[in-house]
Amino acid sequence: MDKILVLDFGGQYNQLIARRVRSEHVYAEIKPYNKISAAEIKAIGYKGIIFTGGPNSVYEETSPHVNRDILELGIPVLGICYGHQVMAYTLGGTVTPGYEKGEYGKTTLYTSGSPLFKDIAKISICWMSHRDMVSNLPEGFVSIAKTDRCDVAAMENREKRLYGVQFHPEVTHTEFGTEILRNFIFKICGCSKDWRMDDFIEQSVERYRRELDGKKVLLALSGGVDSSVAAMLLHRAIGSSLYCVFVDHGLLRKNEGDYVEKTLGEELGVNIIRVNAKDRFLGKLAGVTEPEKKRKIIGSEFIHVFEEEARKLGKIDALAQGTIYPDVIESGKGDSAVIKSHHNVGGLPSVMDFKMIVEPLRELFKDEVREVGVKLGIPSDLVYRQPFPGPGLAVRIIGEITEEKLDLLKDADAIFREELDKTAERASVAQYFAVLLDTRSVGVMGDSRTYGYTVALRAVKTDDFMTAEWARIPFEVLERASNRITNEIKGITRVVYDITSKPPATVEWE
Ligand code: XMP
Repeated sequence: MDKILVLDFGGQYNQLIARRVRSEHVYAEIKPYNKISAAEIKAIGYKGIIFTGGPNSVYEETSPHVNRDILELGIPVLGICYGHQVMAYTLGGTVTPGYEKGEYGKTTLYTSGSPLFKDIAKISICWMSHRDMVSNLPEGFVSIAKTDRCDVAAMENREKRLYGVQFHPEVTHTEFGTEILRNFIFKICGCSKDWRMDDFIEQSVERYRRELDGKKVLLALSGGVDSSVAAMLLHRAIGSSLYCVFVDHGLLRKNEGDYVEKTLGEELGVNIIRVNAKDRFLGKLAGVTEPEKKRKIIGSEFIHVFEEEARKLGKIDALAQGTIYPDVIESGKGDSAVIKSHHNVGGLPSVMDFKMIVEPLRELFKDEVREVGVKLGIPSDLVYRQPFPGPGLAVRIIGEITEEKLDLLKDADAIFREELDKTAERASVAQYFAVLLDTRSVGVMGDSRTYGYTVALRAVKTDDFMTAEWARIPFEVLERASNRITNEIKGITRVVYDITSKPPATVEWE
């Protein structure tokens, strides 16, 4: 399989670059700029290298630099933004600080003939985000594009197949960004389109059938997308030798535990051991109001229940996890970067000694995981579900968690989701749910006084969940949800809508 290496200099778009390449059916992987040598790159046999952007200036002492050997391997390189500057600098060119303002945002680009710009308009729009710029080209290079402020908006050494662009072809604001990346990976690097999810599934199934032959494999199923897809993939490979322990802590959304069990277990045949541990969890959570304490209790109780179940199964040879690619990518921002240790279900047992860890999705981005899930026959409403926190509804019940409050919240949340799901707005909202407050207030129904709980509805728009904007969903949806919640659920007398963004708030209330 042909591979492209994305060498990461700390740019915010590093994952996007790899995803763009993969969406062309060419496998791309990200490595920090200082964690792979020229010899390793050669040995792995990458067909091309992309240097990402980054926040630094090449002349700063602490800036990431690249070993010249990498540029002399004879493998095509495309430098983007900082990657373009670092290429010029390393090969003897000059980079100078941008005059006063630099260039930011949509900018008119004038290109000249180059394989990189084959079949794209001579004048187009590109996305710029830089202060420094290449002012003197390295030997053997020519400028192949300019803007009104930047003479070397792109450069090439065609003979050595080295290319640099000051702008960002990976973002959609660059009019011909996709074509430029395609020209690089296909025309310049000569890659074939051989990264396909069907092949990935087939190869993975074959591989795990071989590697896990005769082995007993344990998987912690949370009901979330990643662990469900991992379970389904391994189920294809080893069938009933895969034991999926599904710890139902009782804090899932309404009917969710049953839905997961029915869909994956009964309909798709995955070997699921469901542990109904609601009483255990609620017992441990009784009287606890402090958010962090709730999370810790749920995390450690989860491990206890999981371990107990695992022990009942006797000797286990391997533990499977739904780790995905963004969980394992190291950042290229500095020497101190470490791999995140990722646990899908609120922390997996570190005390259990597994000789073998199986992570069938560790090469995939989230959208690829979803594609695999659908291809494996998992219904799309399960695969495209909104994110749900590991500690579940516990972080959406303010104050003490009781069974009564849990039931009220499940019903209110189901109504709100159902109402928003009926509308077109749903497509643009990333997460939407209800929160049960600890505050009670007076109401009136018929001629009687009521005194019940308050529910807050929350809906946010976001791409990365690091920041989020409260969603301007139509008043009619809020009105319908509010009417239904107060009419259908005895015990809730008031509904409010959360109009805080993140920051300063977080998405969840606890
Ligand atoms: P916050 O509240 O931090 O949430 O703005 C950002 C995103 O993360 C989810 N979230 C969690 N997911 N375990 C998880 O697996 C957790 O403990 C947890 N806390 C928050 C939240 O639902 C949102 O999508």
